[in-house]
Amino acid sequence: MGHTRIEVVDDQDRLLGEVAASPRESVYEALARSAFPPNSTCRGSTICGLCRVTVRESSAPLPEIFPDERALLGDTPPQVRLACRLELPRGAVLRLRLGE
Ligand code: FES
Repeated sequence: MGHTRIEVVDDQDRLLGEVAASPRESVYEALARSAFPPNSTCRGSTICGLCRVTVRESSAPLPEIFPDERALLGDTPPQVRLACRLELPRGAVLRLRLGE
């Protein structure tokens, strides 16, 4: 199984960079130490609702949306997730863009 990583893309799905991640860490934690920090005022505490990412592709099924995540996301499409509540499946390659 390959290394867990995030591919960050722009609105046109052009690759901006890659971020290595540890299995089971959140997308927020991985992005926070990269050149692509997520928007946030709560530092990953699932309060501000600003750390939204749009998942373009995932090599593994994503975990279910938690009720607190859904409450902050409101009526958004299923590919929009909170980075601080989205755990990376082991070995997964996640392609996403920051924001909605
Ligand atoms: S960082 Fe504030 S809700 Fe995710």
